[in-house]
Amino acid sequence: MSIAWSGGFVVEIWAHRGASADAPENTLVAFAKAIEVGADGIEFDVQLSSDGQPVVIHDETLARTTTGSGWVKDHSLAELSALDASGGREGFAGVRIPQLAEVLELVAPTKVKINIELKNSEVAYPGMEEIVLAAVAAAGLSERVIYSSFSHDSVRRLATLAPLAEVALIYSRPLARPFRTADSLGACGVHPDRRLLPGASWVERAHRHRLAVRPWVANSPSRMRRLISAGVDGFFTDVPAVALAVRDDAAKTKG
Ligand code: G3P
Ligand code: MG
Repeated sequence: MSIAWSGGFVVEIWAHRGASADAPENTLVAFAKAIEVGADGIEFDVQLSSDGQPVVIHDETLARTTTGSGWVKDHSLAELSALDASGGREGFAGVRIPQLAEVLELVAPTKVKINIELKNSEVAYPGMEEIVLAAVAAAGLSERVIYSSFSHDSVRRLATLAPLAEVALIYSRPLARPFRTADSLGACGVHPDRRLLPGASWVERAHRHRLAVRPWVANSPSRMRRLISAGVDGFFTDVPAVALAVRDDAAKTKG
């Protein structure tokens, strides 16, 4: 059982894969940009190399975002680190797939929060929970991290291994009983695809269940405004600078 949601005052703006509209996703430059614009948190995806090292990359395969091919899990850290991870974006040639420790080192001197998504629903990566928790503890960041996964088993394992950590369940298909499911896994938050968010009364119900609600991904101001009015605790966006401006405007309008 992880800790329960205890309420927040401002809607948190989470940079999805870093400031990924402005820089290649899940790279140090995308995270640095998110920090620079003032995002409250950064979200990123972790997988394991063939030699068991945690690396930050979204897809289970390399082709879309790197110069490599095949599966992340089949490459050593040395092989993964040699790839270009610019995804072909102009001006970013030579950026690399970061190791988890490098991202934690970048964020450590700031106050920015961290959402580590364990990308382990397609590839199981046994032992990843322990590896990630150890890396965060080694960086001294245990109190600043929210762990999340689409995998129910992984959410349960994280909540059991780290009873004081915030753990959230991600989902992209409707869940029959999201609150009961999250609770039974020991989660203290739900991260739904934004299209699955019913609205303000649902968010209130989640809060009554002591669950934080952070939908993904809102990139247009109108979508952001809808989430803010629904009372979510935070949301993920590829454009954190836009979201921060929308949040400021919403606060002014509210007076
Ligand atoms: O963690 C929220 C969101 O990142 C889940 O979807 O596919 O972007 O990792 P995805
Ligand atoms: Mg993710």
